[in-house]
Amino acid sequence: MTAKILETLHFIGTNDRHKTLFESNWPLPYGISYNSYLIKDKKTALLDTIEYGSDRSYMEEVAGILDGRDLDYLVILHMEPDHAGMIGEMLGRYPAATVVTNAKAIKLLEIYFPELDKNRMREVREGDTLELGHHNLQFVMTPMVHWPESMMAYCTKENILFSQDAFGTFGTLDGGIFDDEINLDYYKDEMLRYYTNIIGRFSSQVQKALQKAAVLPIRIICPVHGPVWRTKPSVVFDWYRQWAASKGDTGVVLAYASMYGHTEKTADHIARQLALNGIRNIRVFNVSNTHPSFILKEIWKYNGIVLGSCSYNTGMHPNMHHLCHEIEIMQPGNKKAFLFGGYSWSGGGLKNLRLFAQTMSEKHQWEVHSSGIEIPGNPTALALESLNDPIAAYASTL
Ligand code: FEO
Repeated sequence: MTAKILETLHFIGTNDRHKTLFESNWPLPYGISYNSYLIKDKKTALLDTIEYGSDRSYMEEVAGILDGRDLDYLVILHMEPDHAGMIGEMLGRYPAATVVTNAKAIKLLEIYFPELDKNRMREVREGDTLELGHHNLQFVMTPMVHWPESMMAYCTKENILFSQDAFGTFGTLDGGIFDDEINLDYYKDEMLRYYTNIIGRFSSQVQKALQKAAVLPIRIICPVHGPVWRTKPSVVFDWYRQWAASKGDTGVVLAYASMYGHTEKTADHIARQLALNGIRNIRVFNVSNTHPSFILKEIWKYNGIVLGSCSYNTGMHPNMHHLCHEIEIMQPGNKKAFLFGGYSWSGGGLKNLRLFAQTMSEKHQWEVHSSGIEIPGNPTALALESLNDPIAAYASTL
C-alpha cells in the first residue's frame, strides 16, 4: 500500500488483519497498520520499516518507488519489531545504505543484528541533522515514547514530523490514508485505546515530547500506525494533550468480577444509585468478559472508578487481578475510587482491592472514598440499601 504525500515523500505501509493480539496482549478487532516513509531527494532515505512477514509486496514497493535508485539511508526511529522487522532485508538488498539512528538504538541493533557492520551506522544525537537535498531531517529524542531509544525526525524545510509510535492508533487504514479521508470519531476511539494500552504509562514523557514539538511549525504528522495527518495535525495534538494530562470528564467506570452473580447484583445496584445521583457517564464491565484493553480506554475518559470483586482463593478474582495489574502498569492518575466486594467464607476480594487502591493513591493521586463495602452471599435488599448513602456521598465528589 503506497501513497504520495509530496512529490519527494511517499507513504509505504501495510494493513495487518491477521494478528489477533498486538504484543501478544492487546486485542486487535479492527487490525492495525504499519507505516514507513520514503524520501526521494538528492539522497534517498527510508524512515522505519514494517513488521517482518506482514506484507509480501513491501520490498517491491520500496524498490518501485526508488525506481532504479539506491537507498542511501535507513533511518531508524524506533526498534520495536513491528517497525524494525524488515531492517535485515533492507540492509541485505541495499548494501550501501547507511543506518542512521541514536546510541540506544545501536545497542539494540547489535543484539538483533550482530552481523551488522559498525561502519554502516551513523549515530545521531538531539538536534543533529541529516541533509538529503531539499529535505533536512532534524532529530528529536523522545525516550519512552514508546521505548528508551525512541526518537522523532522533523523535516525543517517542509515542517513534517515523523513521530513514530506517537499519534499512532490501532485500526487498519480502510481505504483512507490521510486525515481528510477518514472518520475522525472512529479513529479517535481506537487511538485512545492505543494510547492507554501502549503509551499511557509514559504520559509524563509524552508531555515533554509535546513541549518540544510545540515550538515547531508542524504541517504534516507521519506516524508509524494509522492515518497521516496532513490537513489538521492540531487535532491529534489536542487529543494527546488531554490524554497525557490524565484529566477525565465526570463519570464512572465500574468494573466487577462475579462468579455466580452475587457481586454482579451489587454492581448493578451501585450503577443505578450513581445514575440516581446524577452521574450520566457510567460504563459497567464484567472483567471476565471484557479485556482490560477496552476497560483502560474508558478509565482514561472519566474521573471516577468503582471496582468490585468476589473473593477467590482468599484473594480477588484472577480477572480483576489482571485488570488491576494493567491499571498499575499504565498508571491512569487522578481518579476518585470506590471499592466493594462479595464473599461466602473467608473474604479477600475487597481486602486485596484496598491494597491495590492504596498503591494507586500513594503513587498516582487516586482518592479512595471510604474503605469500601463487602457483602456476604446473595445481597439482600437491606444490604444493598446500606450502599445508597455511601454511593450518594461518593457521587457528590465526582
Ligand atoms: Fe509500534 Fe512501539 O511499536
